[in-house]
Amino acid sequence: MSASPASLRHESAVGHVTGRAIYTDEQRPPSGMLSVYPVQAPHAHARILAIDTTVALAMPGVHAVLTASDVPGENDTGPIFHDEPLMPSDTVMFHGQAVAWVVADDEALARAAAQRVSVTCEALPALLSIEQAMAAQAFHLPPARVARGDAGAAMARAPLRLSGQLQIGGQDHFYLETQASWVEIDSEGTVQIVSSTQHPTETQIIVARVLGLPAHRVVCRSLRMGGGFGGKETQANPYAAIAALAAYRTGRPVRIKLSRGLDMQMTGKRHPFLGRYEVGFDERGHLLALKVELIADGGWSCDLSPPVLMRAMVHVDNAYFVPDIEITGLIARTHLASNTAFRGFGGPQGMLVGEEVLERVARHLGLPAHEVRERNFYRPAADGQFDRNQTHYGQPVVDNHLPALWTQLLRDSAFLARREAIEAFNAGSPQRKRGIAITPVKFGISFNKTEYNQAGALVHIYSDGSVQLNHGGTEMGQGLHTKMLAVASRVLGVAMARIRIMPTSTDKVPNTSATAASSGTDLNGQAVKAACETLIARLRPVAAELLGTTPEQVRFADDAVFADDGNGKRLRFEAVVAAAYSARISLSSTGFYRTPGLSWNPQTGQGHPFYYFAFGAAVSEVEVCGYTGVHTLRRVDLLHDVGDSLAIAIDRGQIEGGFVQGLGWLTCEELRWNEAGRLLTDAPSTYKIPTVCEVPEDFRLTLFQRSEPPTTQVIFGSKAVGEPPFMLAMSVREALREAVAAFGDAGEISEVPLGAPATPEAILTAIERVRGGVGP
Ligand code: MTE
Ligand code: MOS
Repeated sequence: MSASPASLRHESAVGHVTGRAIYTDEQRPPSGMLSVYPVQAPHAHARILAIDTTVALAMPGVHAVLTASDVPGENDTGPIFHDEPLMPSDTVMFHGQAVAWVVADDEALARAAAQRVSVTCEALPALLSIEQAMAAQAFHLPPARVARGDAGAAMARAPLRLSGQLQIGGQDHFYLETQASWVEIDSEGTVQIVSSTQHPTETQIIVARVLGLPAHRVVCRSLRMGGGFGGKETQANPYAAIAALAAYRTGRPVRIKLSRGLDMQMTGKRHPFLGRYEVGFDERGHLLALKVELIADGGWSCDLSPPVLMRAMVHVDNAYFVPDIEITGLIARTHLASNTAFRGFGGPQGMLVGEEVLERVARHLGLPAHEVRERNFYRPAADGQFDRNQTHYGQPVVDNHLPALWTQLLRDSAFLARREAIEAFNAGSPQRKRGIAITPVKFGISFNKTEYNQAGALVHIYSDGSVQLNHGGTEMGQGLHTKMLAVASRVLGVAMARIRIMPTSTDKVPNTSATAASSGTDLNGQAVKAACETLIARLRPVAAELLGTTPEQVRFADDAVFADDGNGKRLRFEAVVAAAYSARISLSSTGFYRTPGLSWNPQTGQGHPFYYFAFGAAVSEVEVCGYTGVHTLRRVDLLHDVGDSLAIAIDRGQIEGGFVQGLGWLTCEELRWNEAGRLLTDAPSTYKIPTVCEVPEDFRLTLFQRSEPPTTQVIFGSKAVGEPPFMLAMSVREALREAVAAFGDAGEISEVPLGAPATPEAILTAIERVRGGVGP
């Protein structure tokens, strides 16, 4: 029997908790494997005058010191633009950048030798923040724009206006497994890569580019990752390329595994953003006009910054309709590591600016924030009403469950009663204040770039009736493999134990997209389903003949094949497979899927980029200490829409984990650099990620039950869950702001500026401001 969504556990659950699940760098090394270590630049921006490798090369056990001139193909790993040299040939672009890599018998030796490579540089002026880049007008691309109506005219007409800005911090991925890869060039000259990559196809293509080989000479496999979170969507590529280049130059297998410190210094993070806004509204808090300028810190190269910025620009609206709106965006070019994808892909930064605007409007008017939020929701047209269900990029909000979900969460969390109780508590507590807030999430599902919305699968049934499943997605802990097993098991009507899932490999399923944008299940699930349906269609006539019935009457379930014509006959699945084999029928099939109905024009910022939207809402309650700015998260209620879950435990884990990662970004994870551009917070001792101590004391999660079936064909009715819950954590920030406000005199406070992240320091600063009774 195929397992039910309620009983399904992660396919590697036992391996994860016993430590037996093997990750890239733990695979049995081929004998003679070498290790590499970087020679890092001590400047954020500098001209390289000379690299002297003679001392290092003379050390016994050192096999090579790789520099830009060793690259046989193109010295570039840029995923969109070719602006990212694997190693710099003349200019250092960020502090800690690898200008050379030592290849040696083991890592300790490579590291020791790296210290003996002397690099002579001439320091150049460096841009180390968005503000500095703006002052220097240093941007990666011309501004992007998404707009509807005439925001300027509507702003001028609006009865009330506010403007402001919000600085938003970045975030390190802090995947438990750092960047890792190993490469062996096999006896036939095929470059065999094993990489902790979310995007094996791109890793393959970029290694081929660097080595100057056709893609068919390079195979990339990914077994499982110890977390990716977007940080291995492109950033795995250069490290696989270094290992491949080292293997190419030495003829030996080569492994690479970054230490935590190196990983934090060299890889890109969530983009810090600066959001500047002007909003026009009426006395009841209806948004009438909105102008937002978003500036993302792209770092030294473009990487994925353009699509990250675009996702931010099409998520500023979050759940709110604004009739006249103009969003512009720029990517600052700084001398810092190149920022990249991170859960939400710019969406969180855009939405945070949107929520900032909503909160400011509500506080300015002295209205409850939850009412102002709800008042502005996207809503399908009711009788005789204006349709408020169209986004600023021209897509209607299909299957908009949010108003219903919101009402349910307000009720189930006893929001209003608790809000009153908190007011009473605060009145009697001068030094500890509580706050409660509810915030919504609407998140577009699909890659903005239409061509990425495709996937493939390859399914083999062997003559003994066992099944091997390959698909183009990668497993990073999010449970994609488990869900793919569930899909195949349902379509083939066999137990999951009969199906073996293989490591993702570019020679099994080619031309794949990154496992990203939360669409791994949607895309690969449909491809797996298609492959399995093809196989069933081939087996059906074989079974019909054996069962003495018509093909239409044949049913595959419970590891058996039934005749549904009342004659009670059944066959074992393997008997039908054996008969098909004897009849010389192919038992192997590919499957392919492309998401229907998508369009997107990046020039006009208009189209139908998302297949559907994910929805959720969260209520958070905090208590803040007025002496220290330290807070506790007293209770959290999440209500999230995953549709018909394929695996309930996995989806719940994604929601809880996403929320906790989001609150890390918004409350405790803070990146700091020194004046030279060196990242100071490059270890868990200085960079605080949330632990079990930050998990709410009372943590409640309910999966939303929709009342109507979806209008889109999603895989078995399930909805994407990987990223959307991250943004539920915005409720924590708003609850903190409520608590901070309670330290001041309610009548006088028109604004509660709160840093992002809201660290104890930022909270204390905010408390001091409201206690002073003045604005910032
Ligand atoms: N969950 C775990 N455990 N580990 C991860 O690395 N990455 C997140 C999310 N959930 C991640 C995770 C991100 S950024 C994305 S885009 C999705 O998973 C990708 O997988 P999916 O498309 O299969 O949901
Ligand atoms: Mo997720 S940021 O799309 O890998």
